[in-house]
This record gives sequence, structure tokens and C-alpha cells, in this order.
Amino acid sequence: MSDYEERYEERLVSADAAGSEEQVIEAALRPKQLDDFVGQDRVREQLSLVLHSALRRGRTPDHVLLSGGPGLGKTTLAMIIAAELEQPLRISSGPAIERAGDLAAILSTLSEGEVLFLDEIHRMARPAEEMLYMAMEDFRVDVVVGKGPGATAIPLDIAPFTLVGATTRAGMLPGPLRDRFGFVAHMDFYGPAELEVIIKRSARLLDVRIADDAAAEVAGRSRGTPRIANRLLRRVRDFAEVRTGGEVTLESAREALSLYEVDERGLDRLDRAVLNALLRKFGGGPVGLSTLAVSVGEEPETVEVVAEPFLVRQGLLARTPRGRIATPAAWAHLGLPVPPTAPLAGTLFEVGDDPGETG
Ligand SMILES: Nc1ncnc2c1ncn2[C@@H]1O[C@H](COP(=O)(O)OP(=O)(O)O)[C@@H](O)[C@H]1O
Ligand SMILES: [Mg+2]
Repeated sequence: MSDYEERYEERLVSADAAGSEEQVIEAALRPKQLDDFVGQDRVREQLSLVLHSALRRGRTPDHVLLSGGPGLGKTTLAMIIAAELEQPLRISSGPAIERAGDLAAILSTLSEGEVLFLDEIHRMARPAEEMLYMAMEDFRVDVVVGKGPGATAIPLDIAPFTLVGATTRAGMLPGPLRDRFGFVAHMDFYGPAELEVIIKRSARLLDVRIADDAAAEVAGRSRGTPRIANRLLRRVRDFAEVRTGGEVTLESAREALSLYEVDERGLDRLDRAVLNALLRKFGGGPVGLSTLAVSVGEEPETVEVVAEPFLVRQGLLARTPRGRIATPAAWAHLGLPVPPTAPLAGTLFEVGDDPGETG
């Protein structure tokens, strides 16, 4: 787990998989084939073409980069890619590869056609990254033996493989690395209808009875994120088991969700803390990312990767070149009047103008 995943083990609706129990359940709920993967239609269709045409030609497909927030299905897709290609999957991650030698050890033991999944690829050490460029392009690496003036580079052929990289921060990826992926898929938040399908599928697999309107309610509060949808499903199930003896009804789902402090829009505690600080401490902004993060006691990366994309998508927060600002909808959501001095006060705010990551 990465540092920020570890920090978030406690969070109910954090987007990252928490303890080992959750990881077991996640594995059980993972769709195994492209056809079972719900939503992300464009990505699914494009990926299907990439994989099947490679299969037809009997070649390894282009390397695939999956970018998107935590819990949107990157690891799941990596596993599906290997399954569709009927190849084994080797899993590692950027933070686990500290030296070029670590990467060489992995690359040199890949079998032909194997799929290598590198999670959080933007966090890989520089020398390893450079080694990866050559491996991706020419299926070759230079292993440096010795130190100083006596060091020699020994070229080593490696088996043709398919790299699947995943990143929550595509903007942090160096251009040369990004360019070596033949297929880049950006995973977006899921719509409520898609999340409802996912929730019903998971309920079936977990043997949970849930009413249609209850499934829709949970879907609407899942922050557009399948991992959170699955997690909330388990919480409402727990609640229903103890309080109402079984089936998850709309009423019990609502009660459970409010008990767990998930609001009607799906905002969780961190989301609300960020909005609260932005409104109450900074008058709605503009305020810089790091200042905002410090005021809620979080790392800037956590605020930027976990909280902000959803708040932006909800039209509650905007990232501008001068800093983060709250929209009039944010004041309304927290039940506060918009002060005349607030940014965008009295304007109609348009959603969808996000300049993206600022690093
Ligand atoms: N498109 C999807 N359809 C069904 N379930 C999904 C989908 N995407 C993700 N999930 C579920 O959400 C959980 C988290 O997905 P995961 O692939 O681990 O996300 P990421 O690697 O992007 O953080 C998994 O348990 C998986 O079953
Ligand atoms: Mg993952």
C-alpha cells in the first residue's frame, strides 16, 4: 500500500482499498472479463479492439496506460487484460521499484507475452524509469555492472511483454514515459445507473437482498466510484442485518448512510472538511492547494487526488490558476449564505472548466 492508502485505512469512504479483509472481498467482486466490466464504455470498446487485434496477429498488444482516481477499476482492468490475452499477470508498483536493478530482476524473468502491471507508475525511481523506456520500446535493457569508471553496461534481451501502467496522476508522468504507451485510457467517475448495476451485481455475489430503490440510493451516494459503492453496500447490509433483519430497504439504507456520515450527494468527511475550510477559513478562496491541505491536516496529494476531483465534478469547487475557489453551490450545500465578497458570488457557475492537476 502507498503512504496515502495507509493513512486512509480508517476512512469509511476513502477511495482506497483498506485492510486485508476488504482486499479479499474486492478480489471476489472483481469482474473477470471485459464483458462483465460495467461502464467506461468507450475505454472498454477501444481496449477490446486493441486486445483482440493483437490476438489475431499473434503479437503482444501496445502497452496500456490506465489513468484515473482510486477505486475506478484500474487494477481490475489490468487483471482483465491478462485474462483476455490468456497470459499470466505479474504485479508490482512504482514505489516498490527503488532501483533499476529491481526492475531488471522483474523484466528479465518475464515469460513471452506476460502482462506486467505497474501500479502507481508515476512514483517509480528515475533510473528505473529510464530502464523501462528501453524495455518498452526495444524489449531490451542495459544492466550496469560495477561502479565508477570500471562500470560496464551489459545489454540483455527480454521477452516481449505487455506493460499495463496505472496512475492516479497522469499529469505527473514524464512525457517520454507517457509517449511509450500505445493506448492511454482515462477512467472517469461512473454514473449512478452504472453504479446501480455494480451494486446489484455485488449484492448477488455477496448474497445480500437489496430493494431497487435502496440500490439506487446507495449508487447516488457512492462518489461515482465502484469501490465506494461496494463498501457502502456492505455497510448498509450490516445495518439491515442488525436493525431490520435482512433485506436492505430504502429506509434502512438512508439511516445507515447517515449513521456513516455520507451525505445525500455522497460527500464524505474529508470532502466536507475541505469545503468547510475553503468556505469558513478562506471565504470561498482563492486559496492554494497546500494551504488548503494544511488546514484540514492532510497531504496536498490526498486532497488533490481523493477529494478534489469529485468536488469539481459536483460543481462545488473549481481549480483556477489563482487557487481553489468555492462555487455558490458549495455555500448552498453547507447551508451557508453566499457572502458578497465570495468569488463567483452572483454569477452563474459553469461546471466542467477544470484545468486539471497543478502538481
Ligand atoms: N467497472 C467496474 N465494474 C464492476 N466493478 C468494478 C468496476 N470497477 C471497479 N470495480 C470494483 O471496485 C473495486 C475497486 O476497483 P479497483 O480495480 O481495485 O480500482 P483501482 O485499481 O482503480 O483503485 C473492485 O472490487 C472492483 O470489483
Ligand atoms: Mg488499484
